Amino acid sequence: MSLDNQTRDSILAAIPNLRAFAISLSGNVDRADDLVQETVLRALANIDSFQPGTNMPAWLFTILRNLFRSEYRKRRREVEDTDVLIITTPMHNFTVPAALKLWIDHVLRINRTFESTPAGKVGLMKDRPTFVLVGSGGFHSGERARQPDFLTPYVRYALESIGIRSINFILMQGLVGGDTSISEALLAARNALSRHAPFNRVAPVLA
Ligand SMILES: Cc1cc2nc3c(=O)[nH]c(=O)nc-3n(C[C@H](O)[C@H](O)[C@H](O)COP(=O)(O)O)c2cc1C
Repeated sequence: MSLDNQTRDSILAAIPNLRAFAISLSGNVDRADDLVQETVLRALANIDSFQPGTNMPAWLFTILRNLFRSEYRKRRREVEDTDVLIITTPMHNFTVPAALKLWIDHVLRINRTFESTPAGKVGLMKDRPTFVLVGSGGFHSGERARQPDFLTPYVRYALESIGIRSINFILMQGLVGGDTSISEALLAARNALSRHAPFNRVAPVLA
């Protein structure tokens, strides 16, 4: 790989615009930063195929767009292809955080994962064991619950509408309570998971 100063400077100069482009494509700042990093790495690895004097930003934008497209194509099959679905999420303001809502909006697509019939929505995905691990600062279930829970009924309804019915919610509650509460919640979650295939092949965790 040969990288002269001018080429290096033109790559560096393009990064702010690349980042803005990546944010507009992915809608997520962290993902956008990863995309920019992957783009620069890909560009450096293939710098010999860049023709000096041509438009460096345009070349980088093309690399970034292609990376995003191929990842998007792979992701679109994420739900179709998996035998077990695992979702880990915090509770934010009594419901799903914005990132999980975004995922749901990508996944629940008419004529792709469900179809609309006179009798209502019919899921097109095969059912499969599904685990939704929910972390929350406080309690929303059981005797210590002091807040409503719009997360579990919503996620259940969303998944059922695409055909996924074998849903296990594993709750890790009281996580603001310090190290002991966190350890207890994690232990309970691990043990709850270990009662289900495919995790029951893993030895249960003892206190
Ligand atoms: C914006 C925001 C909203 C939150 N809302 C709730 C809530 O409604 N109920 C609750 O019990 N915990 C709430 N929490 C606490 C998170 O659920 C808790 O921090 C998370 O499960 C633990 O993950 P962490 O270690 O990444 O913070 C909230 C946290 C944030 C940042």
